[in-house]
Amino acid sequence: MAKLPINENFFKNRLAIKSKSFGIKYKFVRVRVPPRAHYKITFMKLKNKIAIITGGASGIGRACAILFAKEGAKVVIADINVAGGKKVERGIKNLGQEAFFVECDVVKPLQVKNLIKTTLGKYKNIDILVNNAGIYLHGTVEAMEERDYNRLMDINLKGPFLCSKYAIPIMKKNKSGIIINIDSELGIVAEPESPAYCASKAGLIHLTKSMALEYTKYGIRVNCVCPGPIDTPLLRKSFLDKKELENYIQNHTLMKRLGKPEEVANVVLFLASEDSSYVIGSVYSVGGGEGL
Ligand SMILES: NC(=O)c1ccc[n+]([C@@H]2O[C@H](COP(=O)([O-])OP(=O)(O)OC[C@H]3O[C@@H](n4cnc5c(N)ncnc54)[C@H](O)[C@@H]3O)[C@@H](O)[C@H]2O)c1
Repeated sequence: MAKLPINENFFKNRLAIKSKSFGIKYKFVRVRVPPRAHYKITFMKLKNKIAIITGGASGIGRACAILFAKEGAKVVIADINVAGGKKVERGIKNLGQEAFFVECDVVKPLQVKNLIKTTLGKYKNIDILVNNAGIYLHGTVEAMEERDYNRLMDINLKGPFLCSKYAIPIMKKNKSGIIINIDSELGIVAEPESPAYCASKAGLIHLTKSMALEYTKYGIRVNCVCPGPIDTPLLRKSFLDKKELENYIQNHTLMKRLGKPEEVANVVLFLASEDSSYVIGSVYSVGGGEGL
């Protein structure tokens, strides 16, 4: 807490000295000051918090990792993309903040257990888990291969389940923790071309709510964020060409533009910080009007 010299004589003396040196008259006016606690200045919203971000090597996860680090968190980047993950780690360290990369496929229980163990080994705690790793696959029910359906469900739905499963016991012990699932507008509003993706994200909304119902009593807040079309490699890959993407933007977003990963990260930061202390089981759209 910043110490402020709220002593009347201090101000009177300073004013008298300054006024004398400028050769002007002064009048001291007494004003009511609020209690000291009101002067509490928090420079960093996540100071010393330990945050795991899955899929932190790219796009939205990367933006969250960088923002969290700037806000004082020690960030663990978990991803299957080793080169990308290490690059984000280096970038954060260059900012003078703490981060480290753990190679982890969120579908593999042993790798998720290792992620938790490694995080505890290094930082002794887990305050925040952002379940962000995800993929998008196109294809109607008839067109999609069963193995693609399974892969998509595994990464988008089982991944958050597994990471939460192994992080929750630590949070329960601490009687505090925050879990944020990165969902999608398509979890709220379905589209015909990607039923499996829509189903995985609709499932994640209910996983979020069910976890909030169970774990709020242990001091764990669970929420989810539903991005609309955000300019990331995942989005770019899901369109055939620039023309198809441009048509989509014009017809599906009210703001007539793609969102930036940082615009999602800002909402994730809100949910990860004390600013959202009374927010539980919520579904936050960050979609530029996509789902309206
Ligand atoms: N970009 C969008 O328009 C958009 C819209 C709605 C929702 N989302 C969601 O946001 C999340 C992040 O997507 P993005 O757009 O930043 O994509 P992205 O492809 O840029 O990043 C996803 C990251 O997840 C990682 N990943 C994939 N499978 C993994 C696995 N099994 N284990 C660990 N890491 C894995 C990738 O390596 C990558 O680094 C996803 O859950 C996605 O469904 C994105």
